[in-house]
Amino acid sequence: MAPAVLIENLQKHYGDIPAVKDVSFKVEPGEIFGLLGPNGAGKTTTIRCLCTLSKPDAGKIEVSGISVINKPRAARQRLGYVAQEVALDKVLTGRELLQLQADLYHLPSAFAKERINQTLEVLGLQDYADQKTGTYSGGLRKRLDLAAGLLHQPDVLVLDEPTVGLDIESRVVVWDFLRQLREAGTTVVITSHYLEEIDALADHVAIIDKGAVIAAGTPSELKDRVGGDRITLRLREFSPMAEAEKAKDMLQELPFVEEVIINTAQGNSLNLVVKPQSDALMLVQQSLQEAGFPTFGIAQSRPSLDDVYLAATGQTLLDADLAAAGMRDLKAEKKQSMR
Ligand SMILES: Nc1ncnc2c1ncn2[C@@H]1O[C@H](COP(=O)(O)OP(=O)(O)O)[C@@H](O)[C@H]1O
Ligand SMILES: [Mg+2]
Repeated sequence: MAPAVLIENLQKHYGDIPAVKDVSFKVEPGEIFGLLGPNGAGKTTTIRCLCTLSKPDAGKIEVSGISVINKPRAARQRLGYVAQEVALDKVLTGRELLQLQADLYHLPSAFAKERINQTLEVLGLQDYADQKTGTYSGGLRKRLDLAAGLLHQPDVLVLDEPTVGLDIESRVVVWDFLRQLREAGTTVVITSHYLEEIDALADHVAIIDKGAVIAAGTPSELKDRVGGDRITLRLREFSPMAEAEKAKDMLQELPFVEEVIINTAQGNSLNLVVKPQSDALMLVQQSLQEAGFPTFGIAQSRPSLDDVYLAATGQTLLDADLAAAGMRDLKAEKKQSMR
């Protein structure tokens, strides 16, 4: 059976910005596939190319064996797309918006009517169907977007950061719904910069950073690959690099320590990978004390997808997001000051 989605060596530039440099991944039919990465990584660009909304510079994209590039119309029938933010007409009712979507996909009118009712019901929107969407809450809007994406019964539903800006209750509704879709055999591709979301939902995940896939597998494979438990420690709030490196050299000599990474985005804190053993934390603390290092904070945890990201890029996903936000702020400031 052909994969539900196949992307090979995708490239896409905007002027001289390389939004996607080299992205490849495969999605099996009936799974939830997560594309995880910080803001600006190239997630939206990738899935816009997948959904025929943007033309790639190079690479291969197939949906159930159909080339998205050579047969965009046929591919589009099999794909449902839920954008991150949809600028929908607020004066239309939910039902009217779904009718527009049905027209867009040339659904025969009797079938469309039935399908609209069915979809409204599945998403618990019947009571709101004839209200203007301008009155909808964020959670209701997202449910309507999902309904629109699913109306033509696509094999693959693609969602771009579907839970951004939603409260936790609405998030849980979306997650439950995506799991139900999987149960019913629909393939789901979801982008997110929330680690926990991808960890909890996705059967397979590709982690994308600066336009390239840096790790791929099941969440547990990826976590196993980065190895044992983690110990995160800070000598000071901001340690001088020389001190952090001295501590790193010392800690690396401990027999149960597998790896030490200095996290420059977090005041040169030290991230240790240790063999799972109950006294690791205590032994690290003891060694630091004996060697005369201060300890500002120390904690132990099981590996997370953030550790996978950290191991591959040298910073955490959250820091990468903050850095991306900082860049945006800086750019905005620059624009302001040029006025
Ligand atoms: N229409 C566009 N014009 C110019 N640059 C763009 C455009 N869309 C995205 N980019 C840039 O491409 C990079 C990847 O963006 P995007 O695919 O939106 O990432 P993500 O969805 O992971 O946040 C970013 O540097 C972004 O600023
Ligand atoms: Mg995006």
